[in-house]
Amino acid sequence: MDTIIERYEIDDPDHAVMEKAGEILRKGGLVAFPTETVYGLGGDALNPDASRKIYAAKGRPSDNPLIVHIADMNAFRMISKDVPDKAVKLAERFWPGPLTMVVGKSDAVPYETTGGLDTVAVRMPSHPVAYELIRSSGVLIAAPSANTSGRPSPTRAAHVIDDLSGKIDMIIDGGPADIGLESSIIDITGDVPTILRPGYITKEMFEEVLGRVEIDKALLSDKEDPDLKPKAPGMKYRHYAPKGELTIIEGDRVKVSETIRKLVYDNKAENLKSAVIICDEDTNLYDLPDGIMVVNIGSIYHEEQIASNLYAVLRHMDDEDIDRIYSESFEGSGIGMAVMNRLLKAAGHKIIRVS
Ligand code: TXA
Ligand code: MG
Repeated sequence: MDTIIERYEIDDPDHAVMEKAGEILRKGGLVAFPTETVYGLGGDALNPDASRKIYAAKGRPSDNPLIVHIADMNAFRMISKDVPDKAVKLAERFWPGPLTMVVGKSDAVPYETTGGLDTVAVRMPSHPVAYELIRSSGVLIAAPSANTSGRPSPTRAAHVIDDLSGKIDMIIDGGPADIGLESSIIDITGDVPTILRPGYITKEMFEEVLGRVEIDKALLSDKEDPDLKPKAPGMKYRHYAPKGELTIIEGDRVKVSETIRKLVYDNKAENLKSAVIICDEDTNLYDLPDGIMVVNIGSIYHEEQIASNLYAVLRHMDDEDIDRIYSESFEGSGIGMAVMNRLLKAAGHKIIRVS
């Protein structure tokens, strides 16, 4: 299939692009579009065939449910069994924005979209292109991240083109995604709301609105523990992974740099290509041999920079055919928790602790 690729300028919108995208969605086709978190691969959430096409294009297991993107509260009422008070409060505070809520689903939502579950994940995105696409098409848009299953989520149109060109009808290029990590997911179907995927909206921010909130225990363990099954089906897959083997080195910053230097030299002796991911503050610690890629991912004091660069950096490692990747640890509060959650998954939980 030929994929239409169109640039859409927010300041100078080309209405013909939106009209074309809307027409494709209404006919059951697929359109990738930017959101404030990552690019999404959209199809009509209420059309089971469109959902099936999404799974096929991504190579995604069909038990991994999709998020339904909406542009107004009426749509929320239409697709959920009921809208709990907690949902109204969260919507008032964080929508439109990088928040996904899991609620009971109504009969309007096909099981193809929810991966067979009786719950549905719902999000109202704030990105003007995403918002305008839902509004003007009149379609509720089921959209997973627009990557091939298992690859890092796309934060720019070029990433989507790499993964999905020729497999979907259209890609709208609206520039880089701002936040760079997927939305926070919170399940509000139980007594205590539970965070299923950490993101830009943190536990503290949820607690300000809801009181007590828990974090899915499977997310807190830094080991891959087969007994702890994440409640969001997608979180169980080894996701976000670069092709090269990624290891996180954690501990005293000088010792970390010494450990990485040794590993890099060992790899060089074996003719393996290494790369290193470090924060801005540590650049002076890494005096490595020529040809070793050292990527400065942003300041440890500005975790949002690290979040927005992470996936592009991991994809860059693939482009450069890196065999072994070493990353400093960026433990922190706020969105730092989401950064470490994604980095640990990308590393398949491989950590070396030095002290
Ligand atoms: O920021 C985002 O949320 C992006 C943009 C495009 O909106 N979308 C996204 O979708 O990250 P995806 O499909 O890559 O991740 C959806 C996650 C998966 O981990 C899935 O298992 C979980 O949401 N999920 C969806 N429906 C669920 C449900 N009913 N119960 C529990 N988890 C659910
Ligand atoms: Mg995804």
